[in-house]
Amino acid sequence: MDRIFSGVQPTGNLHLGNYLGAIRNWVRLQNDYECIFCVVDMHAITQWQDPAELTANTREVAAAMIAAGIDAKKHIIFNQSQVPAHAELAWIFNCVARMGWLNRMTQFKEKAGKNRENASVGLYAYPVLMAADILLYKGTHVPVGEDQKQHLELARDIAQKFNNDFKTDLFPVVEPLIFGAATRVMSLKDGTKKMSKSDPSDLSRINMTDDADQIAKKIRKAKTDPEPLPESTKEFNGRPEAANLIGIYAALSDSSVEDVCARFGGEPFSTFKQHLADLAVSSLAPMQEEMRRLMQDTSHVDAVLADGAARARAVAEPILGEIKDVVGFLSP
Ligand code: AMP
Ligand code: TRP
Repeated sequence: MDRIFSGVQPTGNLHLGNYLGAIRNWVRLQNDYECIFCVVDMHAITQWQDPAELTANTREVAAAMIAAGIDAKKHIIFNQSQVPAHAELAWIFNCVARMGWLNRMTQFKEKAGKNRENASVGLYAYPVLMAADILLYKGTHVPVGEDQKQHLELARDIAQKFNNDFKTDLFPVVEPLIFGAATRVMSLKDGTKKMSKSDPSDLSRINMTDDADQIAKKIRKAKTDPEPLPESTKEFNGRPEAANLIGIYAALSDSSVEDVCARFGGEPFSTFKQHLADLAVSSLAPMQEEMRRLMQDTSHVDAVLADGAARARAVAEPILGEIKDVVGFLSP
């Protein structure tokens, strides 16, 4: 049976890139796979999180998943820290993964910045916990944005080394699922940087909690170039902002980038931005309204997470038992 696992960190400012690159695709996969979606609060604390904000952001991500249309009764939505087996398997995998593998992780280098000595040990081991998340459920398919590709390759390496070392076929091969026009939504202020929760400029991203006026204003102020809209993708070279805005339009309208170029090519950005703002506002509004409603109803969201965690534990515990057995851990 194919099983999907994916996660989002509750680190605030859930944005259009998270929605188009990840959550929206998950909604579309739920008819074909058994799905487990996780709010990865243990990953979040690899960098400092204010405790009250971490709690609020955990509910916000869960609300976004529910509001986007994930069926929490048929599938599982939960927060990672409610299932202790993630930490247990991460420890075993810490002893499988090699320092050399982790030293190659580009996300660690980006996040740690210049002061690497001062990064948390958790930030360094982050991809190992991510491998544990997926393999704890023998997940086979992982829908993510493009930035997570390297981490998924590491998860494959860990699974394969474990299987080899212990002469078992316990873990499946993990397949990334990366699709759509918006696998990498870029900053509205700099088309060469990805849209990110941690960008200091709020104008760089469309937050899922932004209202219509904020969305329209951010699109109006988005960086462009002086040329009119490109007429085909061939003209994207050296025009990352144009490519990004067209990519967002294509994703939101479920059309191809070529079709958007054919429709708007030659028009000035001011006209296109008006269309893009209207499209963004109208396509995000229903989900945003439901999200706002859910964020008022914290007891409902908490109950969904608790129920999801109980069902996640029921799947994870027998698999962890099997893993411990293979490793040779004595248990009664
Ligand atoms: P994170 O915010 O790092 O927890 O990411 C949650 C999910 O959103 C992952 O699947 C990421 O790959 C995806 N994601 C994050 N930022 C972007 C972006 N700018 N464009 C597309 N996908 C993204
Ligand atoms: N590292 C992922 C991100 O930042 C979040 C994540 C944690 C994840 N565990 C996962 C994604 C397991 C997919 C599968 O986007």
